[in-house]
Amino acid sequence: MAEKDFSAWLAELKERNDIVSVVSSYVRLTRKGRHHWGLCPFHHEKTPSFSVNEDLQIYKCFGCGAAGDVIKFVQENEHTDFNGAVHILAERAGMEVPHFGKEDSQAEKKRNELVSIMNAAQEFFVKSLSLPQAQKARDYIKGRGLSKEIVERFGLGFAPEGWENLKTYLTGLGFPIESINETGLMSSNEKRVYDKFRNRIMYPIADDKGTIISFGGRKINPEDEPKYMNCPQTLLYNKSQTLYGLNIAKNYARGNPLIIVEGYMDVITMHEFGFNTAVASCGTSLTQQQARKLKRYTDKVYIGYDGDSAGQSATVRGLDILKDTGLEVFVLSFPDGCDPDDTLRKFGKEYFDGIIKNAKTLEEFKLERIFSSNDISSNEGKLKAAKQAIEIVSKIQLDMERERYIDMISEKTGYSKRAVLNDIEKISGKNSPKENTIRNETPQKVNNISNVALKYKNSAKNNDSSAEARLICLMARDKNCAVEALKIVNSTCFADDVCKSIIEAMQRVFDGDLPFNASEIIANIKGDDDAASKAYDVLMLDVNSLDLEAETVAYANKVRYQFYMRRTKALQEEANKMIASGKLGDEECQRLLKEIERLQKLAKEIRQ
Ligand code: UTP
Ligand code: MN
Repeated sequence: MAEKDFSAWLAELKERNDIVSVVSSYVRLTRKGRHHWGLCPFHHEKTPSFSVNEDLQIYKCFGCGAAGDVIKFVQENEHTDFNGAVHILAERAGMEVPHFGKEDSQAEKKRNELVSIMNAAQEFFVKSLSLPQAQKARDYIKGRGLSKEIVERFGLGFAPEGWENLKTYLTGLGFPIESINETGLMSSNEKRVYDKFRNRIMYPIADDKGTIISFGGRKINPEDEPKYMNCPQTLLYNKSQTLYGLNIAKNYARGNPLIIVEGYMDVITMHEFGFNTAVASCGTSLTQQQARKLKRYTDKVYIGYDGDSAGQSATVRGLDILKDTGLEVFVLSFPDGCDPDDTLRKFGKEYFDGIIKNAKTLEEFKLERIFSSNDISSNEGKLKAAKQAIEIVSKIQLDMERERYIDMISEKTGYSKRAVLNDIEKISGKNSPKENTIRNETPQKVNNISNVALKYKNSAKNNDSSAEARLICLMARDKNCAVEALKIVNSTCFADDVCKSIIEAMQRVFDGDLPFNASEIIANIKGDDDAASKAYDVLMLDVNSLDLEAETVAYANKVRYQFYMRRTKALQEEANKMIASGKLGDEECQRLLKEIERLQKLAKEIRQ
């Protein structure tokens, strides 16, 4: 199916799957004007900041920033990819999915080629593990207590000593060197391209579907550095989205918590001992993308970081990210200096079961951390610790849950339970109930509405940006309006960067003859996710209009007028400077004054 036909088919699919009705089958929505509000399904919240816009057929959560169209919504909610979501929606609307030649696209071809190279490399590493020169590697693996079965399940291999073993193998299979280079498996200097991994145990890293996207390599010789080498980020591999072992662990996660550990070896040993839901964050601190990925498979996670690193603040931030994604978080503690792998080897499976049984809640963990990092033998330290502690407990909603922490704080500090409770209530009273009632009545006034949205919403100030934003919202709601407006303004007329980028995206949609709707416009925004997210903020603004077209034309004129005025002001300042330095007679100054006059005339024409 040609790309053009496919986009028409997609437009029909979206038309037949109204976003409000699709979202309603997952989230209870309350209508306020043209917006529908509900509790965000993508993060944990108690008051609604998730908004669906009927006119634009898009959603945005002003709490966690999740945003998209109906397809994206189904993708995220059903834990599937674009294709999967399209199939679900097609079935819902009783449409047949045509065969669309997506694999024909350039990017898809490249990706497929890189995956083939990764698979070939994996074959090479596995084969190399049986070579005579791999004796040391086999001994090492044996020394770490890994069974043959687990070595195979995780696809461990060996990169032999030498500069060009893998390179020769891959080029021999006919892969072009440029493509081999793009996998991250090679290093290069001015003279040549050579194998990045030499004399290392190789760990293939897969995405959650099991496609190999990267490798890690562990040193065998103690004197080699670093201990682990990793592929750089590539077209296939984005490390902030990847969790080592998730492709295997996800099959055991249904209903069971996932266990997040730090290292490759921790994951493997845990699986060896039957803890099949272990995954690793690969040495980096946890990201929101990883948290969302985990949330696809479970509602509950255990964190099993090494004894020495669990207390670090980077870890706590990671835990908060997990919690904010709506996961229930528990923290495991290991004997000093032991990671999960060491613990299992030294103390065995039952001991580890005990650790899991004694997992701490995130709050407990944070409180313990507070009490161990403050000197609670002094009055000053005690008060400081108590203050930090009640801040944490005040965020807990259930009184029943709070109770045990109140006991703990009182026990540690010696303050009475009454005093602790009173102070907690003071803090939580300040933070929540009042604000909650306001939020429930008029959710548009949510406190956590993004700054960007606020800037544009603040139309009382009537700044240039608010007129530009309003014009854009009007245009996005109706193709004819957009066409009319573009006869009056173009992107140069806009002062606001976000608005400018949306206008440019609209232009691209027209130029490409694409379906004119909000999600297509956003898909054509140049820049990163942040640019798209800001665009959502603008497009989600409320606009009610009795006469859409008349108002569009009026606002387009206003934006053009503002543009002339800004330009005039800038030129006037320049001219004033020249006049002040006695250059009134200069040709340049005369030119400026003429231009100012011309702009003023144009502006006046608009005003008439
Ligand atoms: P650790 O140093 O805790 O290693 O790093 P480990 O997992 O216990 O490994 P073994 O048991 O000595 O084999 C934890 C993780 O941090 C990343 C790796 O993902 C590793 O598994 N790391 C560590 C690197 O990427 N590079 C390094 O040099 C070290
Ligand atoms: Mn280890």
